[in-house]
Amino acid sequence: MRLLFVGFGTVGQGLAELLLEKEKFLAENYGFEFKIVGIADKIMGSLFVPEGLDLEKALKMVKEERSLASYPGGEYKKDALSLIKETDADVMLEATYTDIKTGEPATSYIRAALERGMHVTTTNKGPLALYYRELADLAIKKGVQFLFEGTVMSGTPILNLLRETLAGSNITEIKGILNGTTNYILTRMEEGFSYEDALNKAQELGYAEAVPDADVQGWDALAKVTILARVIFGGKGNPFDYPCEGITKITAGAIADAKDRGKRFKLIGKVWREGSDVKASVNPEEVDMSHPLGGIMGATNAMTITTDTLGEVTIVGPGAGRTETGYSLLIDILKINGIK
Ligand code: HSE
Repeated sequence: MRLLFVGFGTVGQGLAELLLEKEKFLAENYGFEFKIVGIADKIMGSLFVPEGLDLEKALKMVKEERSLASYPGGEYKKDALSLIKETDADVMLEATYTDIKTGEPATSYIRAALERGMHVTTTNKGPLALYYRELADLAIKKGVQFLFEGTVMSGTPILNLLRETLAGSNITEIKGILNGTTNYILTRMEEGFSYEDALNKAQELGYAEAVPDADVQGWDALAKVTILARVIFGGKGNPFDYPCEGITKITAGAIADAKDRGKRFKLIGKVWREGSDVKASVNPEEVDMSHPLGGIMGATNAMTITTDTLGEVTIVGPGAGRTETGYSLLIDILKINGIK
């Protein structure tokens, strides 16, 4: 399988490390073999090597902040879009930065790759929250797959669970902790850290978005509930159509007071049906400590799914991180490769 990386920051590098580490395991256990034919990165440049590049070497160059232009034997392109339009790859792995207001530049990259008949997997929330139906229809028209497991709860396979594993169930509500950074901050504040120290630490650990407001104002969770509303419930709303409040008004005093009453503040993202309407919201809620969501600490995410068949099902797992999000791309690649 010929792979093209578009976006080679934390997530792209996380996947590259996994591919190198698991190369033999994937070949032996899944008959999966790959070649990396190109890497496009906003800072490091865009490299095309038709016969397949040495991923270890390219990864080392990027980690040392050396431009990919100096990769020996490669063809250097001026930007990601040129690379996508001129490169012959089977799958584009899209992991550029998220902009939930415009979905760009990722949406243009995804459209271009699908138009060329490439399968696409992305971890980018913007294109899904704004253009899911259009991109999914384009993929169907072109006979390719468009997968995005990492957009919600990183590698914790929530979209596969909702779309495939719970087949035949009527899902009436999805409710969860969908942002690692804010849950990490609330956890550390309960332990006595200041809001600022907790946020700085979350940024250091690589959980936070490039713009911290995206986490603490609830926009990241909002993008995720919008994706769920669109993909699972057929909703048509855009992110800022739904009510959204972040964690910036929650004080250490309020956290201590809730704790005394056996409760914890959690930033809850919710999607549900009301008649034929699809509703969604993001806001802090006091959750009972005895509820599965009340015990979720640190950057961990969790989601409680209400079904007509099983009642409530809760899944808990990582929702952010280099390897965790990189792994979501691997899940999608193996699915494209026909491994169930
Ligand atoms: N900033 C996000 C979070 C990353 O903290 O959950 C994963 O979308």
